[in-house]
Amino acid sequence: MELSTHPFRSALYVPGSKERAIGKARSLPADAIIFDLEDAVAPDAKAGARETLARELETGGFGNRVKIARINALTSEWGFEDVMALGGSSVDAFLLPKVNAPSDVDALADMLGSDARILVMMETPASVFNAAEIAAHSSVSGLVAGTNDLIKDLGCRSRPDRMQLLYALQKIVMAARASREVVAIDGVYNQFRDAEGLKMECEQGRDLGFDGKTLIHPDQIGVANAAFGPSKAEIELAGRQIEAFEKSLESGQGIAVVDGKIVENLHVAAARRLISRAEAISEMEVTRA
Ligand code: COA
Ligand code: MG
Repeated sequence: MELSTHPFRSALYVPGSKERAIGKARSLPADAIIFDLEDAVAPDAKAGARETLARELETGGFGNRVKIARINALTSEWGFEDVMALGGSSVDAFLLPKVNAPSDVDALADMLGSDARILVMMETPASVFNAAEIAAHSSVSGLVAGTNDLIKDLGCRSRPDRMQLLYALQKIVMAARASREVVAIDGVYNQFRDAEGLKMECEQGRDLGFDGKTLIHPDQIGVANAAFGPSKAEIELAGRQIEAFEKSLESGQGIAVVDGKIVENLHVAAARRLISRAEAISEMEVTRA
């Protein structure tokens, strides 16, 4: 599975210890499932969760949802065994927590070998400072904002406008975009029964440039998919921009005007990207199973 072109509008955390929730994930419209062995699983349940997850992955049935395993840090007493249990499984990528610097990714990359696909939790102040170098690591395919841990480490407050996190969030997006094809996924919204607040935060993350949002509850999937997927109006506008630009090229001009705004090469490139993203989403939804 090619991660850089796969939609990541919604990435749902599912505790590896909850068989029922894992079962439910097989039919949920999430673009990605993050099977969690880390913070969602209590120390006493770690070994059991690892076995449950390995068994469920063996059973399969997750369609074309991206399957991501969030393991425990390799510096913890569980991380090594997590990788041993899931290394040969059908997971598409590993999500590594508590990374501070690119060298923290090396041990996992070495264990997984040449086809290592690693997403990194960006959840410590040091990880934010080292964002560009982490994203540039040859085994890193994605950055996932860990906003709850970041708030804890910073000693800042939670705010609906996330003003206190903007520097970190922007740095994560910039690092992903400055690198090769690296996916950027926003942090979770804790009040999982508050759809209106979630919508606002999804739209903020989308406007910052994130590909999607990590989620904790199935009810959040629809809101994230709608916010991060191109709207009908955007797809229609992109089509008109491309058409108008091609016409103006034919008449020897490098600039077109659509709805009172100029359309140049770069706008056409963005319009084409939006349309290919919309196509990737419909293709995925048709073949999801
Ligand atoms: N993934 C898949 N299914 C989930 C789910 C999840 N993250 N969260 C809830 N569900 C399921 C429940 O199993 C339940 O299914 P059922 O009706 O078949 O029994 C259904 O959705 C409704 O759940 P609900 O009763 O509304 O929520 P809850 O009280 O059972 O759980 C949480 C609430 C927050 C404890 C739970 O959503 C959860 O564990 N989320 C993930 C937390 C996590 O992974 N944290 C680490 C990353 S921040
Ligand atoms: Mg964390």
